[in-house]
Amino acid sequence: MAPLVVILFLVFSIAGITAAPAKESDLDWWQSCVVYQIYPRSFRDSDGDGVGDLKGITEKLDYLVDLGVCAVWMSPIYKSPMVDFGYDISNYTEIDPIFGTMEDFEELRDRAHELGLKVIMDFVVSYTSDQMIWFQKSVRREDGYDDWYLWALGEKNESAPHGYNLPSNWLSAFRGSGWNWNEERQQFYFHTFTKEQPDLNYRDPGVVKAMKDVLRYWVDKGVDGFRVDAVPNMVEDINLHDELISGLVDDPDDYEYLTHIYTQHQPETYDMVQQWREVLDEYKGKDGHTRVMMTENYGPIDKVLQYYGTVERPGANFPFNFYLITNLDKNSRAHDFDRVIDMWLGNLQENNWPDWLLGNHDQHRVASRYGVEMADALNMLSLLLPGTAITYMGEELGMEDTDVSWQDTVDPWGINAGEANYKKYSRDPERTPFQWDDTTNAGFSSSNKTWLPVNSNYKTVNVETEKQATRSHYHVYKQLIELRKTRTIQRGSTYTLALTDNVFAFTRVLDSSDPVVVVINLGDVSETVNLSSLGSLPDALNVYASSIHSDYRPGVIVDTRALGLHPKEALVLTAS
Ligand code: NOJ
Ligand code: MG
Repeated sequence: MAPLVVILFLVFSIAGITAAPAKESDLDWWQSCVVYQIYPRSFRDSDGDGVGDLKGITEKLDYLVDLGVCAVWMSPIYKSPMVDFGYDISNYTEIDPIFGTMEDFEELRDRAHELGLKVIMDFVVSYTSDQMIWFQKSVRREDGYDDWYLWALGEKNESAPHGYNLPSNWLSAFRGSGWNWNEERQQFYFHTFTKEQPDLNYRDPGVVKAMKDVLRYWVDKGVDGFRVDAVPNMVEDINLHDELISGLVDDPDDYEYLTHIYTQHQPETYDMVQQWREVLDEYKGKDGHTRVMMTENYGPIDKVLQYYGTVERPGANFPFNFYLITNLDKNSRAHDFDRVIDMWLGNLQENNWPDWLLGNHDQHRVASRYGVEMADALNMLSLLLPGTAITYMGEELGMEDTDVSWQDTVDPWGINAGEANYKKYSRDPERTPFQWDDTTNAGFSSSNKTWLPVNSNYKTVNVETEKQATRSHYHVYKQLIELRKTRTIQRGSTYTLALTDNVFAFTRVLDSSDPVVVVINLGDVSETVNLSSLGSLPDALNVYASSIHSDYRPGVIVDTRALGLHPKEALVLTAS
């Protein structure tokens, strides 16, 4: 028997009986929201230089309103040498010219707000660019900046290249040692990612203050919240203890070679997240508007959940729930889905708000990981399970990974792996231009050359074609967003079940006469299922939405005791 997942969202549930709350209580904006992630380099290029920009985003805000999302989160748009495509920031309060100007940002913000969209910034906290003035001052030990980064020397060793051993065995997530020698300061500094991204040292009060000032700067500019980058890697063990070998991979330069018990999820990291919450709540105290804080945190569930903070000292509004990305794939069966979804929902405390992601600019696209025929089914999960959904641009279209040649590869992680291995690491495939229409460069840019190639499937997979088609991923996505507006999806209890090895289902129920049922056949053969083990459902339900190759059209009535499903078919059923 699969585990029962009952979520309480102010709904009282006793022994499986779910009753509506006595008092209507609306969700805050970030709870009912679908957040849409834009990777600005690839959304829309307004000036024809082959790279997306802010004016391009502003031009397309109407599309997002029409789609029905409530907020845009933009990956970094700040001044950057672009070694890691903007995640290496050299000035937190300036816009990089490749994206435009501060006036362009203000125009984007104003237009978004006029249209009722919230604007969420990427808050990159663990490291800066080595071109950042703070780092340069730290190199020169100027003005109290000495300890703003992690500087260290290992044991003296005449035969080591710089006369010292490395301070520890810590690795960079992008391969090899995380320590790099600085000739001028004659010390090593630690970098979790590229060597051009030195890690900040949060044990220095100057850093803590400076980063709070950055947060305030952007809230004062009128943004509605933050996605906080690479949070687990913010603080490292003060004693620089070596990490243990994980046994997961044989390659000693691969980040997975070590268990990151001294470089991830340190207690000070959680405290910092709580301090930022305090800053954001000061603003809320003044105007009642929540500035959302969503944290990027891969890791085991017990570590991830701690980013919520406590009732007394809250942290993130929600840490990203990456488990549909990291713990499931095209080989997963119904009980795997059941287990992974339950691991998240079943472990939340009453005050913890859930969230769902299917992809982002660091992960192969969901349609490629699970197979494109599963694109609608996965959107049904992320949009209809309880909580906030985060959509990576293109998921609404079933966009797939693009095959990027070694010559066209630009991602430092891919490049560091070398020609033989780059495909295993490169994130370029999921970052290629957004597909607007079937014209040159998929309507992304008028340039002869775009910064990454456009996917060759753009003639059929694009906004315009999908809008015009009778059935498309785009239309299914819009239907799902529409259904999110119901109180059943916003407040209803959740029950998940593996009906068979390959058929996964869940219900959302507020009023038992008006349930929402999602049924997905993950397998390669047709099956007929009886939905009665999901609870007392009406014998007949209406197809509200179906995956694009389904024979069931919206509006058709089905028998819940004998429901036939083709391979990969996914349905949303409702009472009316
Ligand atoms: C996390 C970002 O999501 C990723 O794209 C980036 O490469 C790393 N931070 C390092 O900067
Ligand atoms: Mg441009």
